[in-house]
Amino acid sequence: MKITVTQKNLSEWSGQVLAIGLVEENIENQLKKLNGLCDLESLFNYLKSKDFSAKSGEMVKLEFLNSSPEKIILIGLGKSEELSINDLREGACLASRSSIGSTGKIGVLFPWQTFEFDIAAQAVAESIRLSIFKDLRFSSDPKPSKSPQELDLIGIPEDTTDFISNIDPICSGVELARKLVGAPPNDLTPSKLASTAKEVAKKFQLECKILERADCEKLGMGAYLAVDQGSDLEPKFIHLIYKPKTNIKRRIAVIGKGLTFDSGGYNLKVGASQIEMMKYDMGGSASIIGAARAIGEIAPIGTEIHFIVASCENMVNGSAVHPGDIVKASNGKTIEINNTDAEGRLTLADALVYACKLKPDSIVDLATLTGACVIALGEEIAGLWVNDDELAQELEQASSLCGEKLWRMPLQKSYKKGLKSMLADIKNTGPRAGGSITAALFLTEFIEKGISWAHIDIAGTCWTDKDRGIDPAGATGFGVRTLVNWACKIGI
Ligand code: BES
Ligand code: MG
Ligand code: ZN
Repeated sequence: MKITVTQKNLSEWSGQVLAIGLVEENIENQLKKLNGLCDLESLFNYLKSKDFSAKSGEMVKLEFLNSSPEKIILIGLGKSEELSINDLREGACLASRSSIGSTGKIGVLFPWQTFEFDIAAQAVAESIRLSIFKDLRFSSDPKPSKSPQELDLIGIPEDTTDFISNIDPICSGVELARKLVGAPPNDLTPSKLASTAKEVAKKFQLECKILERADCEKLGMGAYLAVDQGSDLEPKFIHLIYKPKTNIKRRIAVIGKGLTFDSGGYNLKVGASQIEMMKYDMGGSASIIGAARAIGEIAPIGTEIHFIVASCENMVNGSAVHPGDIVKASNGKTIEINNTDAEGRLTLADALVYACKLKPDSIVDLATLTGACVIALGEEIAGLWVNDDELAQELEQASSLCGEKLWRMPLQKSYKKGLKSMLADIKNTGPRAGGSITAALFLTEFIEKGISWAHIDIAGTCWTDKDRGIDPAGATGFGVRTLVNWACKIGI
């Protein structure tokens, strides 16, 4: 989708769909902009007959024959004093979903002036593009719906183009993540994930290392390899590197959980545990690779970025881990696997040790780690655990800019006793209560002192069964936009 900013008056603008965002106060005055495009008096009467008062979520669609625009969509944004960036986002999603059926150009005129232009423009443009994403790859008879291919942000000053140029790479990164997560587990294997990472690296000049099983054995990654040992598929440890040309001031690592399928292992998923959905257990890694794609194109200055995924499947066969096995991670710690379904943290353990050896300033991991996090925060909010307040603040800023919701959770030290093992240094699971917290505490065992670290549990947010705001039903690509904003210091 081509995105342009323009300060044309509506009378000079041409395109197929025009979406106007309106606040509740003084609607008639706001509609005067439409003078010349339609008969204002008939419009006022029509809106009255529809009881349209621009409350948040209200929408009226006007269609015309053989004219430019062919559709005008009026969108209620609620009271002006309560107007938030999120209202703009929701209004933009309504506009774009109602534009389905039209091709050509959509123009959007919102009350930008309440906000900083670049922030409002980014929010609206991302919403327009991402809310109409559809994945048709797995249909034998795909029927793509028509939708606008161009977007004009009307009334945004032309000097915001720097900001605008980030939107396409970011949205392409989110779309890549959604496609990786949406692909079924017989298609998206650890090898396919690795080859996708390689393609991204090639296209955007990133360094790419793929560690095979033997390489991981040499590094002593006993926790990660234990998870893989019940699968017929080869594990792939993926490491991409973005290096700015000069002047590196900050080095960061992002890690994603990459279980292309999680059967639970011998602690098999049964009942309501939705084993058939566990293709999305690589959601963290998808967002990492999506972010790599975006960052490769944006090419930020000053920051070196490492993207790391320890990918495999959690399956059952004669060589699979027994519940009760003891394994050794690459930092030498021994782990009693009292539950084979808590496999994500085992793969992350070795990925975190690997990342720490790179001596980054900070590490952020993204993982569909626990059902407990879904119970705590639901499907719209991801859990955030951080050992450093400054990093917490940066991530909260990055996420609030793009509307991905994070909620900081405690690293309650006293809960660590729940992970005490009689034989090994630590068990991989503690009691059911506070399960997402003990999972985060388990991860802290694999982080070197002095490195700031954040863990984001996206078990609830990486998938949606119904259209939800900017996310059409299916994979959401949650995390890509927060990571890119944070890594590139967009809006921070
Ligand atoms: N992949 C799951 C977590 C998950 C659950 C993601 C629901 C998305 C939706 C993870 O590997 C897992 O199975 N966790 C267990 C941990 C438990 C055994 C301590 C869980 O949450 O039940
Ligand atoms: Mg599991
Ligand atoms: Zn899992």
